[in-house]
Amino acid sequence: MRRKLVVGNWKMNGSRVSNAQLLAGLREAGPWNADVAVCPPFPYLTEAALALTGSGVALGGQDCSAHEQGAYTGEVSPGMLADLGCRYVIVGHSERRTYHGESDLLVADKAKAALARGVTPIVCVGETRAEREAGQTEAVVKRQLAAVIHGLGHCCGEMVIAYEPLWAIGTGLTATPDQAQAVHAVLRAQLRAATDRAAAMRLLYGGSVKADNAAALFAQPDIDGGLIGGAALVAADFAAICRAASV
Ligand code: PGA
Repeated sequence: MRRKLVVGNWKMNGSRVSNAQLLAGLREAGPWNADVAVCPPFPYLTEAALALTGSGVALGGQDCSAHEQGAYTGEVSPGMLADLGCRYVIVGHSERRTYHGESDLLVADKAKAALARGVTPIVCVGETRAEREAGQTEAVVKRQLAAVIHGLGHCCGEMVIAYEPLWAIGTGLTATPDQAQAVHAVLRAQLRAATDRAAAMRLLYGGSVKADNAAALFAQPDIDGGLIGGAALVAADFAAICRAASV
């Protein structure tokens, strides 16, 4: 039985004051019988780590550099994230792929750099609406996953995958549990061919997960939790999703 994982992706939201309230709310609502993490913007990681001490809620970055250190203005290395106590880092989020032109290869390099520092990469894959309508969903997610499997080699069993259809992110349109499960099954099968750890790996669903649809999604056999955007910004909503993941 895989323990569920719920990760809050705060994106570029928050302030010192609002973060403190959100984190205090989470402390009060937990603990849960699931693994829970939040990914605040980089400047707030240190304060968030302090606020979460002893709460059982882990910390993650929203992105990282593929490089260790050096002349890469504006970038944050996996080693820095590890230094701040981050257990996870999201890589290849569709907003990075779309707005920053991140390729499958770069995403794989980032995942590899993160693992080398002991930070678990949460690798995002997902298709656009046009790709889904053209019947390309499987091909797209398999291509994205193949790049990272190839890049990580025998370590690929250490990553977390998040399936996030782009048409569901921030739109209020959620993949139905059946639609999400179908893609998760494809991803699990692909992982099975690559690593004997596939059965233990966690595959998250993301895209307009809310308190009222989380339980049905998490009940699917290959959905092991969620990557939560909008609903992660409200303590009560995020806590309700964490409850839905608690078994
Ligand atoms: P959403 O975002 O929950 O607001 O749709 C999910 C994500 O982008 O990770």
